[in-house]
Formats: sequence, C-alpha cells, structure tokens
Amino acid sequence: MDNFPIINLENLNGDERKATMEKIKDACENWGFFELVNHGIPHDLMDTVERLTKEHYRKCMEQRFKELVSSKGLEAVQTEVKDMDWESTFHLRHLPESNISEIPDLSDEYRKSMKEFALKLETLAEELLDLLCENLGLEKGYLKKALYGSKGPTFGTKVANYPPCPKPDLVKGLRAHTDAGGIILLFQDDKVSGLQLLKDGNWVDVPPMHHSIVINLGDQLEVITNGKYKSVEHRVVAQTDGTRMSIASFYNPGSDAVIYPAPTLIEENNEIYPKFVFEDYMNLYARLKFQAKEPRFEAFKESNVNLGPIATV
Ligand code: OGA
Ligand code: NI
Repeated sequence: MDNFPIINLENLNGDERKATMEKIKDACENWGFFELVNHGIPHDLMDTVERLTKEHYRKCMEQRFKELVSSKGLEAVQTEVKDMDWESTFHLRHLPESNISEIPDLSDEYRKSMKEFALKLETLAEELLDLLCENLGLEKGYLKKALYGSKGPTFGTKVANYPPCPKPDLVKGLRAHTDAGGIILLFQDDKVSGLQLLKDGNWVDVPPMHHSIVINLGDQLEVITNGKYKSVEHRVVAQTDGTRMSIASFYNPGSDAVIYPAPTLIEENNEIYPKFVFEDYMNLYARLKFQAKEPRFEAFKESNVNLGPIATV
C-alpha cells in the first residue's frame, strides 16, 4: 500500500510546485487526509500551545476525567462500549465570534496563544482551500465563498486529551465517524499515536510527527466537489500508555450557508449530491455522527425533503 501522504508546503514555492500539487490532489482523491510539514505556522507557537494544553489538562481536566470514568465504571467494562468515548475535551469558537474569553479555567497566556494559533490556522485553511480549487479547476476563492454564508465561516477548535485506557479493545478514544464540515486542521501529539483512517477497508495509522499539521476533508467538501473528494472515516484508538493530545480545528460553513455541488463538477445527469442549509445538516449530524454518512446525504435529496411535510400531516 502507498505511504500516508506527507506534503512539504514549502515545495510550492519552487521547481517542485507541480509535483506537490499533484501529491495534494492524490491525497484528496485517495486518502481524504494528508499531513503538512513546513506549513508556515511558527514552531515556537506550536510548542507554547502544546505546553499550555498539557498543563491545562493536568490542572483542570485530568481529575474530572478520572471521576467520570469511575462513576460510569468504565475501567472495568467487559463488553464493547458503544455510546461513549475515552476522551477529555473542551471547545473553543473563533468565528463568527470568538468565545475564548468566556471559557472558564484558561490562563491569559493560554487564551492569547490559542487566539494566535487559530488565526494562523484560519489563514492556512483558506490557503489550502485555494490549492484545492486549483486542483479541481474551480476559480480561486470558490470554496471559501461556498462556505461563507452571510456571516463568514464557522471556525472552532476541539481540544482533546486521550488518557491511558486499560481496555482499548472495548472503549474507543473516539468512535469511527466522518467530520461534518469543511476542512479540518489537526495538531496532534508527536509521541502518543492513536488516530487511524479507513482506507480500502483497513485502518491505517496517521503517523505522529513533530510540528506537523494533519489535514482532512469533511462531508461538506464531499458535497461541493460532488464526490470527487470524499470525507473519510477515522477514529482514535485509546492507548494503554501515555496521554495523547489532539487539537482539532474545524473550518466549517457558516450556519446559513447553502451547500450544493459546484456546477462545473457535475457531469451530465450525474448530480448525486443534494443541496441544503448547513445548519440543517448539523442538526441531523448531531444525532447520526457515528453512523454512515450516506443516509445523511440521502435525507436531503429532493424527493425525501418533499416527503417530510407529507409524512407529518
Ligand atoms: C474529531 C476527530 C481526531 C483526534 O474530533 O472529529 O476526529 O485525533 N479527532 O482527536
Ligand atoms: Ni473527526
């Protein structure tokens, strides 16, 4: 099998540009995932974010997680747990408005670093969207505009730690799913592994790598590209040793953005993906996240949408 795609973004500036664009295209078409090095986000900022995230976990989250585990009897389960994940998380929103100042228990330094990191990730996300446009033959700015809605994109970060787990075969760190949104940028632990993606029926590790950013594509890009790019199923396998840090930032459509396949990517009579308002998709996703994505798309196909009111009369 081919190796997990690693893209050196610096190579876009020289003789390697064409080969690098080709590599990104192949990753989007065949993996739904790739890992970026030399992405331009300062390594010292990443080091600060990592240090503060790990400190915050130890100070504010770890004890709470242990109490939750023991209250649910999770460490002693005998059968597969299907309704919970072995993860400790909190969420930050950056766009359309930041809520970082309202999140409790964060130091000023942590708030400031996360804001700075989010700004860099936002820029990187938009750069990547334009690289995807280029590969897809869409005009520059098309994807950014497609996700924009009336107030701009929704951009948020899920800060997670996956603590050591005594029963990783019975409890997943995070159960298999595809991501709902646009493009996802992940800063993951460089030592403790666990993230896997499903490729050709096999679970493949996303290799930890110092200072890299892992990129994956969500359901909305699958719809907009009319299936040329697919959102790929992934999961986190908990480890028996070590706590895995993962900071996942989701560049998603604005809630009122209308999502539909780009007309130039629809071959004649081949329109297979539906049109819907992103907020409606998210309402469905909230209930069906850990199930196959196809029924989510199906639910918005014209014939089914029309059935809705009839069925409820
Ligand atoms: C997610 C996700 C992966 C990770 O939050 O959707 O897939 O490594 N996270 O935390
Ligand atoms: Ni995910």
